[in-house]
Parts: sequence; structure tokens; C-alpha cells
Amino acid sequence: MVILSLFLLPFLLLPLLYIIRRPRPVNIPIKNRHVFITGGSSGIGLALAHRAASQGARVSLLARSLKKLEEAKESIRLSSGSDVSIFSADVRDYDVVQKAVSDAGPIDLLVVNQGVVVPQELEKQGLDEVKFVVDVNLMGSFNVIKAALPSMKQRMDRLPASIALISSQAGQVGIYGYTAYSASKFGLRGLAEALQQEVIADNIHVSVVFPPDTDTPGFERESEFRPELTNILAGSSSSMKAENVAKKALDGIQSGRFIVPCNFDGHMLAIATAGLSPQRSFLMAFIEVMLAGVLRLVALFFQWNWYRCIEHWHEKKKDT
Ligand SMILES: NC(=O)c1ccc[n+]([C@@H]2O[C@H](COP(=O)([O-])OP(=O)(O)OC[C@H]3O[C@@H](n4cnc5c(N)ncnc54)[C@H](OP(=O)(O)O)[C@@H]3O)[C@@H](O)[C@H]2O)c1
Repeated sequence: MVILSLFLLPFLLLPLLYIIRRPRPVNIPIKNRHVFITGGSSGIGLALAHRAASQGARVSLLARSLKKLEEAKESIRLSSGSDVSIFSADVRDYDVVQKAVSDAGPIDLLVVNQGVVVPQELEKQGLDEVKFVVDVNLMGSFNVIKAALPSMKQRMDRLPASIALISSQAGQVGIYGYTAYSASKFGLRGLAEALQQEVIADNIHVSVVFPPDTDTPGFERESEFRPELTNILAGSSSSMKAENVAKKALDGIQSGRFIVPCNFDGHMLAIATAGLSPQRSFLMAFIEVMLAGVLRLVALFFQWNWYRCIEHWHEKKKDT
């Protein structure tokens, strides 16, 4: 009887999930469309810009340093022949962001990618640093989206449009030493879940990308300041190349995925933390339903291992 039920389950569940998955599947074209990338002068943002330009998009980049923006513009011109528009602005300044967005013209695919990380235990970290991280990563994302949304809603072609937020695996699971960063990146997911409901009627599709450690100038800077325990807990996994993250991100954005993982661990994390997030794919929904219990068990083993490491580390510190 149990075996028969297990055998019948997919036949009952798959049609049900096919009917109830929401939002509906979508494909977001990129050729000849305007892709606006914040933090597009370096790392993942720059790799995304190269990729979008090579697929025939009109690309605009926003970041603070004009020098880095000009270098990015030149490197994209050399690799794809595309002329990129650049805007020097700090995402924390809404008026400047609004002016840049209005000068750039209506956006079809908005990639909110800027981000900073200052790894440190909260007790040792100044509140000015916490505010800096939250202001750039979370409030800065609100500023960019708020500035871009009115013209995105009024776009002439009425084709599907996208707002993609670049979070982090530290935005799916809290990691020692990342209290400010994790809070800002978890916040992006809440923003995205609510925003998707608000913009679906305008054919705008929200994605949240969760990259793992990625070889970028930002990651190199961050690695110098990581607390010892952060390295013990998170440092063992190898980092991805920015180009590979950009490929996964852009593929996910174009297929309208709400949660966009970038590697195998990311897929497992996405299933383990699916919660009440939207899901367009009935097959992914099926996998989420089937694996939920087992991945919770795996997650509990991870937590067991992390807390064991933390206990050992404190014991060692006490002995020395
Ligand atoms: N690399 C990783 O391991 C990793 C992992 C997970 C998630 N992420 C996320 O992926 C995104 C890109 O990271 P990355 O490693 O590629 O970083 P990166 O190499 O440091 O590049 C960051 C970009 O953001 C811009 N930026 C920083 N602060 C800004 C501000 N206040 N206003 C406007 N632009 C600003 C930078 O230009 P300016 O400094 O000139 O402004 C640069 O273009 C971030 O959101 C990061 O949190 C990265």
C-alpha cells in the first residue's frame, strides 16, 4: 500500500503543481533591450555587463568611481563593440540615482548588484560600519528600484521586464562574522518577495540571485578582514569565477526564476530555504516538495557541525 502510494504520488502531485505554480512561466528577451546594472564597474556586475552586451543588449552601468566606469566601458567596447553608458553615482544618494536613471532612459532589465561587505563580529563592529553596509546593500537597492520603477512600468514595448537583486548565500543562511551583511542580504529577499506581488500586473518579474564566494576585487578585499572563525566555518568552499556567476545569473533572470542559485550548493540551499517564495517551474516545485524534509535534516547536520566548531574554537581560546 505504501509502495503504491509512493508510486502514484508523482502522478497526482505533478498535475496539481502544474496548475497552482505562480507566477506563470515567462521568458525575458534581452537583445536590443536596455540593461541597467548598478555596481557594474567591477566583479560580478562587470561580468554581467560583458555578457549582456555580447547578447545584443544596450547596457548602462552605475557605480561611484568614474575611473573604474571608464575602464569598464572601454573593456566592453573592446570585447563586444558595444557602446556602454556610464553614470557615476552613490546608491545611497536618491537624488543622484534618480538623475542617473532618468538620463539613462527607460530600463527593461534592472540588475541591482552593488554591494559592500565588512566582515566583523557585531560586538567589535562600529554602528557606523553596520549602517554603511545596510545603507549600500539594502537602502541603496530601494533607492535604485524606486527611481527606476515608474519608467519601467511605462515602457513602450510591453515585453516582460525584470528587476534582479544580487543577494548572497549569506542572504540565505546567517554566517558568523556577517551580521550586518547577512541582515542586508536577507532583507533583499523580503523586498523581492513583496515587490514581485506589486509589479506582476505590469509584466515585471523579480529575481534574487544568491552567489557563493566569487573571485572578484570585492571578495579579495573582504578576505583580508574575515574573522578567524568565519574562515573556519565558510572558508573551505572554493570560489566561483565571476563569468560563471554572471552566466547563471543572466540565464536565471531571463527565464524569470525568482530564486537564482549559481552552483550545486546554491541549488540545495534554494530548495532548503524555499519557504513561501514564488515558483514558476512545476518540476522545481515537485523537487522542493519531495526534498524538503531530507534537506532540513542535512541543514541540521550543518548547524551541528558549525556549532561544534564554534565550541572547540572557544575552548581552544580559553586554554591559550
Ligand atoms: N564576490 C563574492 O564572493 C560575492 C558573493 C556573494 C554575493 N556577492 C554580491 O555580489 C555583488 C557584487 O559583488 P562583487 O564581489 O562583484 O563586488 P566588487 O568587485 O567590490 O564590485 C562592487 C561594485 O559595486 C559598486 N559600488 C560599491 N558601493 C557602491 C555605492 N555606494 N554606490 C554605487 N556603486 C557602488 C563598486 O563600484 P564603486 O566602488 O566605484 O562604487 C563596484 O562596481 C555584491 O552585491 C555582493 O554583495 C558577492
